[in-house]
Amino acid sequence: MCGIVGVLGSHEVAPILVEALKRLEYRGYDSAGIATVNDGALDRRRAVGKLVNLSDLLVHQPLAGKSGIGHTRWATHGAPTVSNAHPHSSGTVAVVHNGIIENFKDLREELATHGISFETETDTETVALLCQHYKNQGHSSAESARKTVERLEGAFALAFLFHGEQDLMIGARKGSPLAIGHGDNEMYVGSDAFALAPLTDQITYLEEGDFAILTRTSLKIWDAEGNQTSREQRRIQLDATRVDKDGHKHFMAKEIAEQPLAIDRTLHAYLSEIDEITLPDELDFTKVDRLTMVACGTGYYACMVGKYWFEQIAKMPVEVDVASEFRYREPPVSDRTLGLFVSQSGETADTLAALRYMNGKANQIVGMVNVSESSIARESDVVLPLYAGPEISVASTKAFTCQLVILLIMALRAAQQRGIALPESLPADLRAIPGLINQALTLENQITATCRELSAAKDIIFLGRGQLYPLAMEGALKLKELSYIHAEGYASGELKHGPIALIDDTVPVIVMAPRDALFDKTISNMQEVMARGGRVVLVTDAEGARIAGEGTSEVIVMPQVPDALAPILYAIPAQQIAYYTAIAKGTDVDQPRNLAKSVTVE
Ligand code: F6R
Repeated sequence: MCGIVGVLGSHEVAPILVEALKRLEYRGYDSAGIATVNDGALDRRRAVGKLVNLSDLLVHQPLAGKSGIGHTRWATHGAPTVSNAHPHSSGTVAVVHNGIIENFKDLREELATHGISFETETDTETVALLCQHYKNQGHSSAESARKTVERLEGAFALAFLFHGEQDLMIGARKGSPLAIGHGDNEMYVGSDAFALAPLTDQITYLEEGDFAILTRTSLKIWDAEGNQTSREQRRIQLDATRVDKDGHKHFMAKEIAEQPLAIDRTLHAYLSEIDEITLPDELDFTKVDRLTMVACGTGYYACMVGKYWFEQIAKMPVEVDVASEFRYREPPVSDRTLGLFVSQSGETADTLAALRYMNGKANQIVGMVNVSESSIARESDVVLPLYAGPEISVASTKAFTCQLVILLIMALRAAQQRGIALPESLPADLRAIPGLINQALTLENQITATCRELSAAKDIIFLGRGQLYPLAMEGALKLKELSYIHAEGYASGELKHGPIALIDDTVPVIVMAPRDALFDKTISNMQEVMARGGRVVLVTDAEGARIAGEGTSEVIVMPQVPDALAPILYAIPAQQIAYYTAIAKGTDVDQPRNLAKSVTVE
């Protein structure tokens, strides 16, 4: 799961590659590297850790050349070391790879029988060695790359560069996306069009199994069957400017603060001035009996909230699944099922595979994505953009709340189309959300102080009931990924079936309890925690605080919110608790260890 880029340019390519890699760093930051061909000679520079380390290295050991490839890595096979960093090279071949070569062990054994030895633990080195092996047999560079790609199993996007070939690059894809960019006597490849946005807006997306030969002035493509083919060249509108922190300490702080504006944009896209739902007409709930939602991580928790809404508001049966489980379970799918795939990046490998599984079986495939030029968007019948704006911090925040807003609007549309009366105040109440979030954001100082204490804990439990149960899990996910504190989210009623054994005065318990229909039940569960010495941080509204605040360690008093909207509003303290606990612990907020923004391997 990595980002790759390649440039056949007319200027020195190293700074261009580094700039493109900055735009791909969301795909991994375990190591980075580039290779160039200069006067026919292939050379490379690689550094462990973030891209800045590679930039520093290039200051001391510059790399000349107008043709080059680059890579930012999220380690799959082999630790994040310099020798495992891409580009991998063998003799006259250099290659960068995104994905996993599943049969690399077999290929290694085969190469070993030819006396070929290995320097790294990676699957990608095998690709370079195999290609060089074919070159040694007398095949041309392009032919060697083609023969290599034919032998590979698994998921990959690859870019090859060759010693002695200043005007040749090979691109290939199977399972992982690859965009080709067209310039003025220049040609580019990139894991996505966003990486290439400062260079060109003319993009050709390779399709599954495509193999491409690029020169500065030509692009030739062969499909999975080996037939020469052409793929559409399109103008893509993407912002080429790099997104900055806008005065905030971290992208995450900026993205949390942006939520009122982001949600306003989303509302503007899906609700008219007179609160009519303006989802695309093709989204037709009269043709389906059930909804299957599939996503990963935070998107999955958004879907779980959506399930409550669809069931309660539209009386519609809903199934929610994590993509990595769904794709291999072989679930029966009727043609009266709507498949909804929720993904900020639109590139998550498991979600994309689940989409492909449902494609052709379900009545309709709907993709809800933030990146409108993503694979999930391109493979969906109907695309619902989030309009959250670029989300840079690895932990998802504004994408989540925008996903919730659209899911609620979808549930309202489903209710209308199924002849079910809408709750009286919806959708008009949704208009209040940006203002309520602005109010919730003012609790920052109190949350900062609470988080200083939380940061000393080893384990933290989040509790919620009903539509706040997924928020408990989202709060726990955010906290563990940012602060590395072990955290779990439970349905508060489930606590006494096991997890309550964990409770003592060292385990803070964060209870999300707006004063809704289930408030009394949640508070009973909270009392059970306090009776066992548990330290409770209660997140509720003023009335909830008055009724249940006594005996808790802390109460975070949220604005009053209509019941259905509580999950959207309560996402804010969940995000802030994770953010300020991470600050108190001094972890890397925007790029936490071991993670990547876009998970393009399964
Ligand atoms: C958590 C987080 C991840 C993503 C997950 C799915 O803060 O960001 O759990 O939600 O990797 O990513 P997308 O939405 O891009 O499919």
